[in-house]
Amino acid sequence: MKINKVCIIGGTGFVGHHLIPKLANAGIACQIPARRPHRYRSLEVQQGCELTSLESLEVESLKSHFDGCDAVINLLGILNESHNCSFQEIHVEAAEKILEAARQSDVKRLLHMSALNADESNGASNYLKSKGKGENLMLSPDTGAVKVTTFRPSVIFGDNDSFINRFAQLLMIPGPLPLACADAKFSPVYVGDVTAAFLKALRDSSTFGKSYELCGPRTLTLQEIVEYIAQIKGVHKSVIGLGDTMSRLQAKILGVMPGKPFTMDNYNSLQLPSVCTHNGLQQLGIKATDMDAIVPQMLG
Ligand SMILES: NC(=O)c1ccc[n+]([C@@H]2O[C@H](COP(=O)([O-])OP(=O)(O)OC[C@H]3O[C@@H](n4cnc5c(N)ncnc54)[C@H](OP(=O)(O)O)[C@@H]3O)[C@@H](O)[C@H]2O)c1
Repeated sequence: MKINKVCIIGGTGFVGHHLIPKLANAGIACQIPARRPHRYRSLEVQQGCELTSLESLEVESLKSHFDGCDAVINLLGILNESHNCSFQEIHVEAAEKILEAARQSDVKRLLHMSALNADESNGASNYLKSKGKGENLMLSPDTGAVKVTTFRPSVIFGDNDSFINRFAQLLMIPGPLPLACADAKFSPVYVGDVTAAFLKALRDSSTFGKSYELCGPRTLTLQEIVEYIAQIKGVHKSVIGLGDTMSRLQAKILGVMPGKPFTMDNYNSLQLPSVCTHNGLQQLGIKATDMDAIVPQMLG
């Protein structure tokens, strides 16, 4: 399949900032619709990349950005709902409209970012249910001529992530660190491996209609990850794993604070281990990168 130009929806986020240079290096031009393009002008230094103004997530508006593109990549996502933005709008309705706009624009290829444990019927949280619903739409048999591949990563780490960096910041606050859901399990996956999976799948017809779980080589509890970050930062601090009642209480309190640092829905997502059954990186011939190869330098 010939892919010379892709349109990336949600390209201004953490994953997009890593994916765009990789696409540009592979000689693929990028169209990046953004609701606040002025904030992300640095992305345009990448060869062949252009930021455009995204007026809305409606089909007609999306179509105007898909013109001339061979593929669309959907990286849209939110971790928490706000008064003007719901999981249903971003993970379900926008996915449906992106697929419809791709169909109407004669775009033949679509890559869609879901999440590990996304499940429309049995998702542990509203986030995971909505991610599951969006992914099911993308993998339905009636996508027409649009060939879709979906990805289900565990938590993603790398430069400017909001996971490792967030705990690195929290560890700098004086006093012990009370940690909710300390036993939650993750297989953190390197953003460079995630973007390699996208690039690999883009032109590979054997990935059409398939979904790939993406995990790193190690499974750790949240407590182990935070202690690992503390060790790298040289911070001596006690990390106090909270029991279930205290974890819920923390979620209830932080969930009503500005920026919602941790909500009941986040708590619910963490009740399932974020680990792969079949690691798609292996299926795609990509060797998973260990945190040791990246995190010390990243935090240094
Ligand atoms: N990071 C992880 O650990 C992780 C793990 C599993 C799955 N995922 C999934 O991977 C995808 C990319 O994640 P990420 O970490 O790159 O997320 P991110 O940094 O939060 O970026 C999200 C993107 O979605 C856009 N967006 C959000 N709400 C929007 C709205 N109402 N209208 C238009 N655009 C909107 C953002 O645009 P603005 O720049 O304008 O805000 C940004 O481009 C998401 O689907 C996420 O659910 C991520």
